[in-house]
Amino acid sequence: RHVVVLAGGLSHERDVSLRSGSRLQDALHGRGLEVTPRDTDGELIDWLTGQRPDAAIVALHGSRGENGAIQSILEMIGIPYVGTTSTNCRLSYEKNIAKNLMRRHGFATPAWVSLSHSTFRDLGAQTLMGLLVGHLGLPLMVKPQHGGSALGATPVRTADELPAALVGAFAYGEIAVVEQFIEGTELAITVVDRRDGPQALPAVEIAPHSGVFDYESRYTAGLTTYYTPARLDEAVATAAAELAIGAHRTLGLRDVSRTDAIAGADGAVHFLEVNVSPGLTETSLLPMAVEAAGGSLGELYAGLVERAVA
Ligand code: DAL
Ligand code: MG
Repeated sequence: RHVVVLAGGLSHERDVSLRSGSRLQDALHGRGLEVTPRDTDGELIDWLTGQRPDAAIVALHGSRGENGAIQSILEMIGIPYVGTTSTNCRLSYEKNIAKNLMRRHGFATPAWVSLSHSTFRDLGAQTLMGLLVGHLGLPLMVKPQHGGSALGATPVRTADELPAALVGAFAYGEIAVVEQFIEGTELAITVVDRRDGPQALPAVEIAPHSGVFDYESRYTAGLTTYYTPARLDEAVATAAAELAIGAHRTLGLRDVSRTDAIAGADGAVHFLEVNVSPGLTETSLLPMAVEAAGGSLGELYAGLVERAVA
């Protein structure tokens, strides 16, 4: 079978995607597949139409890769692919929509406000600081509504840090999410579709040495300690698995997803966001979970390719 691994792209997570694509290509080696890496550019549609690969794997991160754009193209040309459909990628990629849907289905998610850049300009930083801190309290987490790898995301401990954090988020897009910062254990829970339904893999516990899981702590080996499975009470581990499976079902995800969450001091597990194209780099979370479960990246994705072409 000819499988194209789409990696690179023009989002802010281009470098991460190239690393994910290259690891995936290595992982698929020796599995009887002819694997072609392909970046996205103006020739992509013609190339796909001409090559007609048997299947595609989207290893693109950020916009286009995770907002449903590339999935729409694959659907239009009629190339089977691994992962969530365009419509459901679009829902999941909007942190605001994903949080709303999860809350409506009874899952905990930190209280938040979605704020547009134009509202920020109209009301001014001082007024907004008062409104947001009055409504949500402190500390806060500020992030772009669309994005990943913590780019443009900043924790805010005191009100005077808020304007700069908002400007940092608006650098990545028109809308920012201002969210209550839940103190607790940061978790990433991978869900894989099995024949009998979605299965949660062991949660990965994230302990960045700097205290903040930013871009550097994510992609520089040695800057974060990971515990897989997470060091959680059994009841909390079960709640984390239920949350991730709940996100997978509620948002209509397919094949594989990774839910990012916080296990709070209150014992509740709070939904932060879901990733339809989780990172596959040497320091990424999904591969750790797959290995802890006794599987391998190559076996997982080769199996998903078979599902896609079936
Ligand atoms: N956005 C990165 C790739 C991740 O969540 O793994
Ligand atoms: Mg993410």
